[in-house]
Amino acid sequence: MDLLIIGVGYVGLVTGTCFAEMGHHVTCLDIDPDKIYKLQRGEIPIYEQGLEEMVRRSAKAKRLHFTTNYAEAVANASVCFLAVDTPVTDEGHADLRYIRNAASSIAQHMTDYCIIVNKSTVPVGTAQEVASIMQPILDKRGATFSFDVVSNPEFLKEGSAVQDFLKPDRVIIGTDKPDVAAVMKEIYSPFMLSHERLIIMDIASAEMTKYAANAMLATRISFMNELAGLCELNGADINKVRKGIGADKRIGYSFLYAGPGFGGSCFPKDIRALHAQAAALGYETPIIQAIEVVNKRQKQVLGKKIATYFEGSGGLKGKVIGILGLAFKPDTDDMREAPSLVLIDFLLRSGARVQLFDPIAMSNAKKILPVNPQIRWCESELEVAEEADAIALVTEWKQFRFLDFAAILSTMQGKAFFDGRNQYVPHEMAKRGFDYIGIGQAIVYAEESIAQIVAE
Ligand SMILES: NC(=O)c1ccc[n+]([C@@H]2O[C@H](COP(=O)([O-])OP(=O)(O)OC[C@H]3O[C@@H](n4cnc5c(N)ncnc54)[C@H](O)[C@@H]3O)[C@@H](O)[C@H]2O)c1
Repeated sequence: MDLLIIGVGYVGLVTGTCFAEMGHHVTCLDIDPDKIYKLQRGEIPIYEQGLEEMVRRSAKAKRLHFTTNYAEAVANASVCFLAVDTPVTDEGHADLRYIRNAASSIAQHMTDYCIIVNKSTVPVGTAQEVASIMQPILDKRGATFSFDVVSNPEFLKEGSAVQDFLKPDRVIIGTDKPDVAAVMKEIYSPFMLSHERLIIMDIASAEMTKYAANAMLATRISFMNELAGLCELNGADINKVRKGIGADKRIGYSFLYAGPGFGGSCFPKDIRALHAQAAALGYETPIIQAIEVVNKRQKQVLGKKIATYFEGSGGLKGKVIGILGLAFKPDTDDMREAPSLVLIDFLLRSGARVQLFDPIAMSNAKKILPVNPQIRWCESELEVAEEADAIALVTEWKQFRFLDFAAILSTMQGKAFFDGRNQYVPHEMAKRGFDYIGIGQAIVYAEESIAQIVAE
């Protein structure tokens, strides 16, 4: 089938590439000429495991094309997927301007019946809005053909996007028309070989499902972060609590990790947009509001812990803090709303110097962070530790699991280790000579210093 993907970002590129991998003939279109120019030359603008080889393979087999030419691309497509960005406005509403622009471009260039499939995350009612943008343009053109709009929200996760797309938990299709559902079923049939994963529903419910899923996941994170703060005060350990509640099948273990707050391009904006949708309908959503309130506070927790630690030794001014991990989560280069940015901003404002390292996200981080003599860009974990008074782990890249702690400690001038992801065993870290400060658990001081205190 001839598919057109409009918007070649994290979702659009992965969607187009995975469809092409399954034998569809796919054109990916973007308004960013630089991005398309690079893709036409085999340069992949984002990092996702396995993506580069797949893009090259399908492009070579001429199943995958990249273009900025709406007229040609739309004329040749029977199904157009919208995968453009839907950020939030300053007031917290989903900003649908890219969706509207893409819808009107399609209507201007369609030459036959077409199914418009919306993969972007959009509020309930957007499919109707897309139709109401397109119809007058077609009427004006005197077009005799029609179109249908389908909601098909995307659930892939950055960091495992290709695998998520190839083996989805479910594919949600929002349409009231059985013949349109049949086309969607055919498009997705290569991904359903082991078992059916398609869930067909009305358009409004499909649009709502995406926000509901993200809000549920973000609720779990904020809930655990809130409990982590309480554990620090009442002497409980959030890691043990996590294991204790996760064992209950009704709760499960996923998304129960306390940490430095969630970031990324989706959760923060989708929570705000869901709240704004409810407010516009005059409906109060205190749970959804609380997710963001807790998350904002949590993003400051690491900075506060570091400041408290150095309170007795002259404060943060002039201190050197090494930061491991900058991306909002591992296995991605995405820096959007990353907790590391809040921490770095706080440390710089407090007069500290920061030494930064991320395995993949360094170039994106350099684009976002200001040029500042207080920032040192490092090439390894060991360089981050050089002369550092403290280290903070912010993103739990797998390569940080087994660090050379002896080498790290010997090159540091201090011994504080702030574990924003509770990756290490506190007493083992203390045995290695670190003052270990995790999230939602008691501080464990270096055994060497305890021994010293006892001796004194
Ligand atoms: N990133 C994720 O993990 C993820 C997961 C699920 C759903 N989503 C949703 O999918 C959508 C896309 O997200 P993303 O992260 O891929 O965005 P992105 O910012 O990475 O990419 C969007 C692309 O759309 C292009 N674009 C904008 N207007 C256009 C137009 N009129 N015509 C053609 N191209 C246009 C932009 O140039 C950009 O390349 C959003 O609604 C997002 O909420 C994202």
